[in-house]
Amino acid sequence: MDTLPCALAGRCGGCSDPARPLAAQRADKAARLGALLAEVGIALAPRAEDLVTPAALAFRGHLDLRLEDGRLGLIGTEREVVDTERAKREVIDMPRCEVATPALNAWLAGLRTDLPPVPRASLRLRVGPDGTRGLWIDCAHEHIKSLLDEARWLARQVEAGVVVELGAKSRRVVVEPGEARVRLGAAELAVWSTSFAAGRALPLYTTIGGFSQPGPIANQALVSAVTEHVRQTSPKKVLELGAGAGNLTLPLLSAGLAVRAVELDGAALLRSARESQLDRQLEVVAASFQRASDVAPLVMGTDTLLADPPRQGLGVFLDGLGGLAKSLRPRAVVYVSCHPEALARDAARLTTLGYHLRSLTGIDQFPWTHHVEWLATFER
Ligand SMILES: C[S@@+](CC[C@H](N)C(=O)[O-])C[C@H]1O[C@@H](n2cnc3c(N)ncnc32)[C@H](O)[C@@H]1O
Repeated sequence: MDTLPCALAGRCGGCSDPARPLAAQRADKAARLGALLAEVGIALAPRAEDLVTPAALAFRGHLDLRLEDGRLGLIGTEREVVDTERAKREVIDMPRCEVATPALNAWLAGLRTDLPPVPRASLRLRVGPDGTRGLWIDCAHEHIKSLLDEARWLARQVEAGVVVELGAKSRRVVVEPGEARVRLGAAELAVWSTSFAAGRALPLYTTIGGFSQPGPIANQALVSAVTEHVRQTSPKKVLELGAGAGNLTLPLLSAGLAVRAVELDGAALLRSARESQLDRQLEVVAASFQRASDVAPLVMGTDTLLADPPRQGLGVFLDGLGGLAKSLRPRAVVYVSCHPEALARDAARLTTLGYHLRSLTGIDQFPWTHHVEWLATFER
């Protein structure tokens, strides 16, 4: 496909490369990682053929939008002059999004006729695997209060079958039957995305605002590539860093591997594993891996490290790893990254710890943007 067929192309900041053919995007992304690795002295460079684009249109299962003064969409690419002192980027009103699923677009069209009665907010729209619509609204405390006081807009959403969560703590909006009031209940985990193993979808339990990969088609490709790379290291036990709700963990468990999974809040992971009856060989460590002093007990008894860190990369975890005797360090590292700069930085540090970068594979799950997901394998 040569260009993104979108009426907002070039104006909407969601897609930074809408007019670049997909093959050229893959070449750019491979060249960029190659250059970053060369800068840190690593000669292995990915080729454009090492990157696949599983889906380029209608693939996103959730949309993160901004509501500002009646416009609902994404921040635009152009800086608009506000006055002689300031310039800012405006929210571009988005009637539809070509990379979102048809179900999301149908809902977006309806929501635009009945916007939340607040001046500004961040909205996440999700359509779950069973078609349930989930809306997470994060806005200033005073606007959350005004939504609850007004009550009718929230009640309309809930009565139409939309699950609504409010604020940083993702508390559920509850409308009691027969009541004119809405109230905030506790945050609840529900199935908003899936992982995959052996052709079977595995439900992942999160809040609406919780992390998930952008869409199921590319995720299936990502999960199967990660599972295959980890299996090839023949691990006795895998140490996984940044497990989220178990997107990569559940397929490994399903393949019969034992996993020690580290995640800041392990509740979503535990729930997902239990619901699929895959928790027998799972050990959850609900903690930060960013504590160099705690690395020895995390690593003990494991021989393959699977890391899918946030954009900052592995940070001080690698200091801790460097402090361990070589024989205690994992034999292999499978590193999943959506941030090439962090991958290159961590690859350089892994090299100084005695690891060699063996392979690079990419899943371009963010076509039309400069983002990309790389899968790097290292061996000691
Ligand atoms: C890129 S997401 C990957 C999640 C999961 N692997 C997936 O495929 O859905 C990174 C995850 O790392 C977690 N995380 C971020 N910083 C962390 C830390 N210091 N310690 C433990 N987990 C962390 C985040 O909560 C998030 O779930």
